[in-house]
Amino acid sequence: MEKEVKIIFEPSGRSVYALAGTVLLEVAARAGFILQTPCGGGATCGKCVVRIRAGICPASESELAALGASRVAEGFRLACQARLSGPLTVEIPDTSLFQSRQQILTSDTGETMEVLPRVRKTCVQLTPPLHDESGSDLDRLHATIGPCPVCLSAVRDLPGALRQSNFMATAVRVDNELIAVEPGDTTSACYGIAFDVGSTTLVGTLVDLVTGADIAVAARVNPQTSFGDDVISRIQKCRTAPDGLQQLQASVLDGINRIVDELERKAGIDRNRVYEVVFAGNTTMQQILCGIDPSPLGELPFTPAFREALETRASDLHLHVHPCAKVYVFPQIGGFVGGDTVSGIVATRLDRFTKPALLVDIGTNGEIVLAHNGNMLATSVAAGPAFEGARIVHGMRATTGAIEKIILDGDVRLNVIGNSKPAGLCGTALIDVAAELLRVGLLDSTGRILSSNEAPGGVSPALRARLIEDRGEVNFLLVAAAESGTRAPLFIYQRDIRELQLANAAIRAGINILLKMAGLNASDLGEVLLAGAFGNFIRRNHARRIGMLPPVPCSRIRFVGNTASFGAKRALLSTQEKAYADRILGKVRHVDLSLDPEFQMEFSSALLFPEHDLDECGE
Ligand code: FES
Repeated sequence: MEKEVKIIFEPSGRSVYALAGTVLLEVAARAGFILQTPCGGGATCGKCVVRIRAGICPASESELAALGASRVAEGFRLACQARLSGPLTVEIPDTSLFQSRQQILTSDTGETMEVLPRVRKTCVQLTPPLHDESGSDLDRLHATIGPCPVCLSAVRDLPGALRQSNFMATAVRVDNELIAVEPGDTTSACYGIAFDVGSTTLVGTLVDLVTGADIAVAARVNPQTSFGDDVISRIQKCRTAPDGLQQLQASVLDGINRIVDELERKAGIDRNRVYEVVFAGNTTMQQILCGIDPSPLGELPFTPAFREALETRASDLHLHVHPCAKVYVFPQIGGFVGGDTVSGIVATRLDRFTKPALLVDIGTNGEIVLAHNGNMLATSVAAGPAFEGARIVHGMRATTGAIEKIILDGDVRLNVIGNSKPAGLCGTALIDVAAELLRVGLLDSTGRILSSNEAPGGVSPALRARLIEDRGEVNFLLVAAAESGTRAPLFIYQRDIRELQLANAAIRAGINILLKMAGLNASDLGEVLLAGAFGNFIRRNHARRIGMLPPVPCSRIRFVGNTASFGAKRALLSTQEKAYADRILGKVRHVDLSLDPEFQMEFSSALLFPEHDLDECGE
């Protein structure tokens, strides 16, 4: 097996291992750094620039053309072009990151965003009341900051806060409501948290509401996974167990509060200085989080309880932040197209693309949005858990020991997460192996793995030897027992390919139906944006080879990172972004595929892998 090389990223010092030949952009994503790629890796925008601080990384012609000889000599490279040939230390400039730390935030589309949070802190110096003066502390505060509605807890704070610091205090207003009064000048300590509430993972980003900068990020597995991997099992729990909803709500809120605890610890801030929390999640997650019964989402016509954004107070959800902090829950589009999709549109500005564009978030539930002429069609498909490693015999989540990349190059070359012995394969490797088997001719378009006798002439003896027949089916040996972390051989079984075909066909059928409804062909698509944690690690050419993505050049397929988090952060930082999220509802039409007679036909034809690929983009 080929050896991986170590790549250290500065300034964080985070390191990962990857195979020689891997593109730096992909390695950075694996280390958690999502870089700006507006030209889709076409070597023309120069936004993905990084600097090699140690190690050898030869520059390509396209890098020389884009950066010039002197910058190349200084170690600058384009992450979308540079390929590993040995261990490296790589500096990622802040400006190359998808989320940069500036007060005016720049999106990957180059658009700027003003920091206009709904939280305002004002430091006031009041004069102590005179003996003969009538009126209250609140009257005198109002006289300084102007009239505003007042939350009871702010009045509770007021007398103590004023007298603790010689009548200098900070008034905290959200929208115009006074929610807190703090002793002294605390105007620089003003925070919010943006949450991506996924069925599998919860991610919280602590944001400085003064500068717009990210302060800390924390993630953990959604504790609800103990009730089942997908949203259907959670809806079922709410339908059948008398206290199912309460259990599930308590479980996700516990996970969220643990993230708040972690963010407080990591950033060394006071949680009482967190005045707003924004949540973006799928419909089921958002409803359970708010304590709203999701049962109607489990039966036709899959009706959500709300569409417009919801607002409440942190104390209503027992969040570990300031009790009067505002909570904003994203608007949702339809049954299974939720706030995370709206957040993704906010993050990518999908409705503003001049050419037709597709946003695809691949997960157990795949969400697809097609934008055309400023309007959007949105749908969701049940892709099943194959991409998360479930129902695949040697499948596993993308953690240490998971094969995450497979190349057939005369024999099998693997990339394993954590540089350990392989213990199974995750979703990206599943896509890789199918695409590579198709490329070398060992898998036919019906999804059947060929036997050694049927293999085309050019297939190497090493690959032929991996085709193992068993009870009338052929399975492909990925890792021999001696090299396996489990001490048992790892196979891609014929039935694994069948599971992949089902997941693949669901996504592609969803895409095809939206294209048809808009009267478009795949070739009309200006861009295909891949969102979500999984989407960032997929090899674009492989996703296209197996037919999951339509036949568009790789240069038009772009990774956009965790758009649910990015959009939630935007909403946290600006009231205008919240208004934008609201407006999206008026521009998007929800397409319910369960009612579409064409879905089954499209699904059946998408079960076949394409006979040929479009071109190669060499990932
Ligand atoms: S140059 Fe545009 S993404 Fe690399």
